[in-house]
Amino acid sequence: MNPESAADGGRVVALVPAAGRGVRLGQSTPKAFVQVGGTSMLRRAVDGLVESGVVDDVVVMVPDEFVGATAELLPPGVRIVVGGAERIDSVRAGITASPDADIYLVHDAARALTPPALIARIVAELRCGRAAVVPALEVADTIKSVDIMGGVTGTPKRAELRAIQTPQGFDAALLRRAYESAGPGDAATDDAGLVERLGERVRTIPGEPLAFKITTPLDLLLADAVVGARES
Ligand code: CTP
Ligand code: MG
Repeated sequence: MNPESAADGGRVVALVPAAGRGVRLGQSTPKAFVQVGGTSMLRRAVDGLVESGVVDDVVVMVPDEFVGATAELLPPGVRIVVGGAERIDSVRAGITASPDADIYLVHDAARALTPPALIARIVAELRCGRAAVVPALEVADTIKSVDIMGGVTGTPKRAELRAIQTPQGFDAALLRRAYESAGPGDAATDDAGLVERLGERVRTIPGEPLAFKITTPLDLLLADAVVGARES
């Protein structure tokens, strides 16, 4: 897709998990196929990766029954793979389908409005020799841990907390190793978490508010408003 960047230090493959059902969004269509401003989240996420100019190949992981629809939705050259029951299973399917990667970016389709400049910044950090890089935002709310009864068990210092976004970027060998050590259906909510378990250092760079994950109906309203304001 972008042969020039392959020449300067290895092949960058973007894996786009898009096989979730979107239970919290509550629509009948799987979330990645729900439209924001008239274009599906999946198409917007893929377009952002292509626009960044730093991605050689894009692999999307979608529900089995959406493979045909996805081919019509996306530009030619994007590879389509069947995802799995959990996000980790979907990403694993993408890794298996792209053994030639030197760098992986794992980027949620649900972060449909992610600025291409953020994607380029993650890859630039990897090209400087970092092995695992994620975008991070300071949190506005106080975060507490609770027990199963809802009783508060702790209040971590907010200044030390970050909300982590995607794309998450990895040296490909490191991410493959991290996935080898994780079982199928592992409950990890992000890929960097698997790398941390290996004892490897994960770096943060400043994230972008527009890289927010569209999870709930309120998020979708916000995303539609952002696109509407941009177009008017
Ligand atoms: N994802 C995936 N395969 C799964 C589950 C999730 O590829 N089995 C993808 C989603 O499509 C999404 C990203 O991982 O792009 C982040 O997951 P999330 O926001 O939780 O999406 P859903 O799982 O679809 O939503 P929900 O948890 O509300 O059902
Ligand atoms: Mg989910």
